[in-house]
Amino acid sequence: MGIRVLIVGGGGREHALAWKIAQGPRVAKIYCAPGNAGIAEFAECVAIEPSDISALCRFAVKNAVDLTVVGPELPLTLGIVDVFEKEGLRIFGPSQKAARLEGSKIFAKEIMQKYAIPTAAFTVFADATAARDYLLKGNSIPVVIKADGLAAGKGVFPSLRVEDALAAVDRIMIQCEFGAAGSKIVAEQFLFGEEASFICFTDGTSIIPMPSSQDHKRVFEGDRGPNTGGMGAYSPAPVITAALEEKIMQTIMRPLIAALREEGIRYKGVIYAGLMIDRDNPYVLEFNVRFGDPETQPLLVRLKTDLVDIMQAIIDERLSEITIEWDPRPAVCVVLASGGYPDKYEKGYPILGLKEAAQVPDAVVFHAGTALRDGQVVTDGGRVLGVTAWGISIADAVQRAYQAVNKIHWQGMHFRRDIAYRAIKHA
Ligand code: AMP
Ligand code: GLY
Repeated sequence: MGIRVLIVGGGGREHALAWKIAQGPRVAKIYCAPGNAGIAEFAECVAIEPSDISALCRFAVKNAVDLTVVGPELPLTLGIVDVFEKEGLRIFGPSQKAARLEGSKIFAKEIMQKYAIPTAAFTVFADATAARDYLLKGNSIPVVIKADGLAAGKGVFPSLRVEDALAAVDRIMIQCEFGAAGSKIVAEQFLFGEEASFICFTDGTSIIPMPSSQDHKRVFEGDRGPNTGGMGAYSPAPVITAALEEKIMQTIMRPLIAALREEGIRYKGVIYAGLMIDRDNPYVLEFNVRFGDPETQPLLVRLKTDLVDIMQAIIDERLSEITIEWDPRPAVCVVLASGGYPDKYEKGYPILGLKEAAQVPDAVVFHAGTALRDGQVVTDGGRVLGVTAWGISIADAVQRAYQAVNKIHWQGMHFRRDIAYRAIKHA
């Protein structure tokens, strides 16, 4: 008899997870909470919010779920793994204590400082006056001001001028735009270089890197404009050479897992390091305790090994017994967003051309913010679709992705036409 899987979340990352998990030979049933219109094609979507841990737990017990997979960070930081395990349920992801690596930037910085993991120099402030005094001395510029807690990627303010840094302090600590997440801030050294995402599987002892990837956080071409949840991603990221990968494992990833063990925390799940690469030296910008979105989309289309096998091995702390295989072909994901995103946007527009896009070979359209209305797929979020394709070269993958993008349309749709430009330049 096959296993019954519950996926928590409803974005592009979760569609990619569901798509990959559904290919597993031993999977009998997939539920997704809350899911989206794309996920609904092969999973039963249930209307439970990812933050409603007790409802999710009741659902898993009642429906005899054998494995729960958590997409987003919020339930992880709220302790979903601890709650499920107490109930005797199998769940893939880090414990609440381990999830503090993402839930508190101060916690992450202090671990890195204590264990000499390379990251930007920093100072912590618990009150706005002290932060202002520090910034007005002027010798900290350029600086990056960050809210301590979860802020959906919006609590980070790279500041080239003192005025910008002061405005950030005001928004976080006085206007309280991020609520309690902004009761403390980190002011850190502004780093320069090229960013990359470095994502690993770990069971708390063994740690295995996935291929490198890179996302495009800015809304406009040329990496300009405000930050978004991610307008596209690709894998591999040529800036991460084999030598650099070894250096990252040796100076960052293995020391991190050992440091956490030293602190009494066994980390199980996916660990994501957002890195700045400055002349072959990697520095940690942030840790995420989950798969990246949209990096997961190009990564999982490259994964050849059964994802459920990997997750089960991690839960049972026997990751070292598993060999993970990847398709050498590069992959790319182009995000199609609602008009106005990342600011205000409207929802409910019918999406045309999904069938035609699905016919493009070596491409798959992952849904992010979509819903079904009277049998019609409509827009239901800022990031709507992640058109993902692979090819013999990154240029080939990009060309194929945009070939599929060109079949799709809705009122106000916007996207970047330069996804993976850095990788193409490298090549
Ligand atoms: P984070 O959520 O901490 O990764 O920050 C979001 C984005 O802000 C990163 O992807 C970087 O583009 C930028 N950023 C964060 N920290 C720094 C830093 N110390 N120096 C330069 N840019 C940074
Ligand atoms: N792509 C960035 C993130 O998942 O946080």
